Amino acid sequence: MELKESILKRRTANKAFLQKAVDEKHIRELIEAANRAPSHFNSQPWDFIIVTDPAIRKEIGKIAGESMKELIAKGEFFNRYLKYFRFSQQDIDKRKTGIHIDRMPKYLKPFVEKVFSDSALKIMKLLQVPTLLGRDQRKIVEGAPMLLGFMLKKEEYKPWEKSGIYSLISMGAALQNMWLTATSLGMGLQFVSTPMEIPENWEKILKILRVPDTHELMAVYRIGYMDEKTRRNTIDWVSDERRTFEDLVSWNYYEKKE
Ligand SMILES: Cc1cc2nc3c(=O)[nH]c(=O)nc-3n(C[C@H](O)[C@H](O)[C@H](O)COP(=O)(O)O)c2cc1C
Repeated sequence: MELKESILKRRTANKAFLQKAVDEKHIRELIEAANRAPSHFNSQPWDFIIVTDPAIRKEIGKIAGESMKELIAKGEFFNRYLKYFRFSQQDIDKRKTGIHIDRMPKYLKPFVEKVFSDSALKIMKLLQVPTLLGRDQRKIVEGAPMLLGFMLKKEEYKPWEKSGIYSLISMGAALQNMWLTATSLGMGLQFVSTPMEIPENWEKILKILRVPDTHELMAVYRIGYMDEKTRRNTIDWVSDERRTFEDLVSWNYYEKKE
């Protein structure tokens, strides 16, 4: 696949992967692509944990599912990230940022626009929305053939020093190399961020993965082969829209856009 095709084709994979173990040759390709990324002074400030053991995936899936359920039930997730949610095509067309919740059970539609009020949250709970989202999250995380823990070495990642920002920039480059390589191999990748939102749950993940004090676990990803035939989650989103060149760019000096 050409680079540009991979860039345009890359997406967040928010659904189950093919039930097929990831070929070790492909795992090596992903990690080698990540490690080819630029890093400050070629420090390669990362280490990775590759989880293929079904028992460990199940434990992490359970925590991810519980985290999703709790975040939705408490309304925290919506409150924290309210500004990114879009519920209509017109809204996403106009604003060009955020995620469009384009798939949900029919019975939810009348309530969705009011999701941010307390009474709507009660209705959502009655309609089992937190349980539904938690279940979907657990299933796709435990069912992913491979999870990947991305760690930065604390001797490099010192948020209060320049090396902190340098390591983060390097990590972004490494992640994108890996993601584009995954796309070119017919694979998908998704952040599993929900446990990061609940410190006690993140602690549990650190214990399961035996992350040492010398390292910071920056993120966990689910990775696997894409399967066109797999159905989407019960509640799902897309975020294909992007801002335009004209909106993004000022020439020579910054000019505020309308
Ligand atoms: C730091 C970071 C955290 C993210 N966390 C999640 C997540 O927890 N779950 C998820 O499905 N996507 C997550 N995403 C993916 C973004 O939602 C996604 O990249 C964006 O909506 C654009 O969609 P695309 O990746 O399909 O192009 C995350 C992305 C970044 C960079």
